[in-house]
Amino acid sequence: MLDDLTLDPAIHDRQGFECGIPALNEYLHRFAEQHRRRGISSVYVLTESAQPERILGYYTLSAAEVDRQRLTEAERKKLPLYPLPCFRMGRLACRTDRQGQGLGKLLLGCAVDRCLKARQQVAAYALVVDAKDDVAKAFYVHFGFKTLQDAPMTLYLPLGR
Ligand SMILES: CC(C)(COP(=O)(O)OP(=O)(O)OC[C@H]1O[C@@H](n2cnc3c(N)ncnc32)[C@H](O)[C@@H]1OP(=O)(O)O)[C@@H](O)C(=O)NCCC(=O)NCCS
Repeated sequence: MLDDLTLDPAIHDRQGFECGIPALNEYLHRFAEQHRRRGISSVYVLTESAQPERILGYYTLSAAEVDRQRLTEAERKKLPLYPLPCFRMGRLACRTDRQGQGLGKLLLGCAVDRCLKARQQVAAYALVVDAKDDVAKAFYVHFGFKTLQDAPMTLYLPLGR
């Protein structure tokens, strides 16, 4: 069984995580726990109950805001002039030996679920992500994310009507 859990340094082996992107490895190895404690990012890991220390993938969530001029014209019309509250998924990665097996999709689904739950308490319009390259961007586009008008590598997924 797979579990989507808050990073717990007492259980999860951060140093053993390798996703092929040095910056994403380093973030988990060196900064994720500090950021979690300081309220900069919430860090979630996907693990298997049979091997709970092994991190299969991770993602981070934090608060964000986006000016409505940056959204598509059709969407802009229905929205207020002031910046829109959003969530940001700052990082998303699966371990190299488990890529292409549906875990990225699962992690993204877990992140969206958390956002949908959180926005029942504190409103947020969309989930925003920063794609590090065109391959990552294509992954988000595959799941319906749209590009911000002025930032081709930043994408957003509206969370409701
Ligand atoms: C990007 C990443 C998270 C995707 O995870 P994954 O486990 O390899 O992808 P999945 O197996 O879950 O793929 C799910 C779906 O997305 C599609 N997909 C995967 N990568 C894609 C890509 N680059 N472009 C378009 N579609 C893609 C798959 O075809 C699959 O489609 P389906 O559900 O219709 O069958 C993973 O490859 C990874 O960790 N890469 C290194 C880190 C990275 O680049 N992170 C992005 C941060 S900006």
